[in-house]
Amino acid sequence: MSVNHDDILEPTDAKKIVEQGYDQLAERYAEVRTLSDGNKKYIDILAEHLPRDSCVLDLGCGPGIPITKELAKHFKIMGIDFSQNQIELARKNVPWGQFHKMDMTRMTFPPESFDGIFSYLAIIHVPRKEKAKLFADIHKILKTDGYLLIAIGNDDWVSEPDEKFMGEPMYWSQLGAEKTEAMIKETGFEIVQSSLEHAMFDGEDEQHYFVLAKKI
Ligand SMILES: C[S@@+](CC[C@H](N)C(=O)[O-])C[C@H]1O[C@@H](n2cnc3c(N)ncnc32)[C@H](O)[C@@H]1O
Repeated sequence: MSVNHDDILEPTDAKKIVEQGYDQLAERYAEVRTLSDGNKKYIDILAEHLPRDSCVLDLGCGPGIPITKELAKHFKIMGIDFSQNQIELARKNVPWGQFHKMDMTRMTFPPESFDGIFSYLAIIHVPRKEKAKLFADIHKILKTDGYLLIAIGNDDWVSEPDEKFMGEPMYWSQLGAEKTEAMIKETGFEIVQSSLEHAMFDGEDEQHYFVLAKKI
């Protein structure tokens, strides 16, 4: 039986691989990251649910383009990412946003700070041991009746030790669609809408699972 990353890595070491990997590939990632129809569709749906200029936090915002920039057309945006190089690019690409280098598993925002919380393809890098606490933290810092929008991998899958992304060592710990939705509901959210959407990334057709949930 093959060994996966979660069999052999402590969460701190797993997250270090992710942080260092994105520091190395930040500029190349920004060049190939495009706004897919599924990305745009869900940002527009979020914009139908939240008033204009609501405060939205983007978890794992990456280089800020094209996603955070698209969000910023509707909302006041704060982005966090633990990769220093990603945060520096985000500051350049979306100068009117607020960006902080921060690990989303160690957030220190006061309760009920945000109207919306958003995260595209970043929670897939959070160790599964830490996901329940992450959703609890998200729930705490979101206002009642606020919205959470995430895009994740569809499958329940953990990377293996030799895994690479764009040539750099990388770590993923995906729970997949079903387990993630169950966890979100258990945390105190109601699922508003979810679906599997196609997205092109660097010439590859990928499938991403989108979930829009409301804090009740
Ligand atoms: C695949 S990129 C997605 C970037 C952007 N959201 C997008 O849709 O293009 C994943 C990003 O999540 C960040 N990330 C992963 N785990 C994180 C964590 N625990 N705290 C903060 N950022 C994290 C990485 O540094 C990286 O920039």
